[in-house]
Amino acid sequence: MKITLSVIKADIGSIGGHIAPSQHLLEAVRAHIAERGRGLTLDHFISHTGDDIAILMTHAQGVGSERVHKLAWDAFLTGTGVARTQGLYGAGQDLLKDAFSGNVKGMGPAVAEMEFDERPNEPFLFFAADKTDPGAFNLPLYLAFADPMTTPGLILSPKMSLGFRFVIMDVNETSGDRVIELVAPENLYDIATLLRDPERYVVESVWSRATGEQAAVVATSRLHNIAGKYTGKDDPVLLVRTQMNFPATGEVLAPYATAHFVAGGMRGSHNMPLMPVAQNTGTSYFDGPPLVSCAAFALHEGKLTEPLDAFAHPFWDAVRGRAADKSLEMRRQGFFGAAMLPMSELEYTGIAEKLGKLEQRFRMRSERANEPATAL
Ligand code: F6R
Ligand code: MG
Ligand code: MG
Repeated sequence: MKITLSVIKADIGSIGGHIAPSQHLLEAVRAHIAERGRGLTLDHFISHTGDDIAILMTHAQGVGSERVHKLAWDAFLTGTGVARTQGLYGAGQDLLKDAFSGNVKGMGPAVAEMEFDERPNEPFLFFAADKTDPGAFNLPLYLAFADPMTTPGLILSPKMSLGFRFVIMDVNETSGDRVIELVAPENLYDIATLLRDPERYVVESVWSRATGEQAAVVATSRLHNIAGKYTGKDDPVLLVRTQMNFPATGEVLAPYATAHFVAGGMRGSHNMPLMPVAQNTGTSYFDGPPLVSCAAFALHEGKLTEPLDAFAHPFWDAVRGRAADKSLEMRRQGFFGAAMLPMSELEYTGIAEKLGKLEQRFRMRSERANEPATAL
């Protein structure tokens, strides 16, 4: 049976700044999908990570279905109405266009979708990250699908030993989807060369070379490329099918124990560690730290089981402790050096404006070295 998994997520308003949506808002989105999705979706699951609401849907309409995208868009519009009546901060923040035009891609919400022949047992993972951008998944996907130090299945399982194909997108290109396909293990150094720059090159999808099946898909949209200005961090979602010819669930989860530094945190402009958290966790310290949640499901004939909260397990408490320590360590140096993102990635214009003004006051010192600088 061919099934499509679609996850569409947006920040449409939250309590107390950019912390988390209200229960009332979540309920409004849930009720909209339950009522209006009847006869269209096979199942759905609504959750939030930080200030983002994710609508996960199963259906048989294929990738990029106008009806499915419109359902999610309308649910976010309905939610925005509720956010406004409650006075939530940033109501409708990620809905960047006025009129729906067939597909939510390029309209603000993040989208990750894949269509596949459902296996007799179909375990998959749904990751949602907040206060960071799509490149946050580069390292975990590289480790899970290309590194036998993390994924012993790459040497133990004959099918997995054939490796995986990575589709990588240049997200700086705004005129269209600029992508490259590279295969592991043969192109490992080329894959690494691109993925080391997660603000520009982002893993879009991963495919099994043994069977041709799709294993993973990432939402690659960058909000500032759509809006032309800062409207919030991109806060990506990721779907990964696991087990059998794909990495095991534990192999896909393992890289998150690194709590690696990602772009994000306060004002979307810092380097902060990615903290694995339980589902429906809000943000706190320094508008972060950047969060990632993971719901594990089994899928059968398009129906979802209840989600298992992969990062709620006690193991991750120790990782969270380390992520908090790394956050504090980085924050000790404030805006200096590696703590704040480079100019090209700053999400607010204040620094560029200040530099522009200061630029006019620089002068070349005259050859008489002792001449004092002009008084202010
Ligand atoms: C990060 C984020 C927040 C805001 C910050 C200021 O992605 O959303 O850190 O940038 O709280 O928000 P504004 O500019 O809305 O006051
Ligand atoms: Mg927000
Ligand atoms: Mg967010």
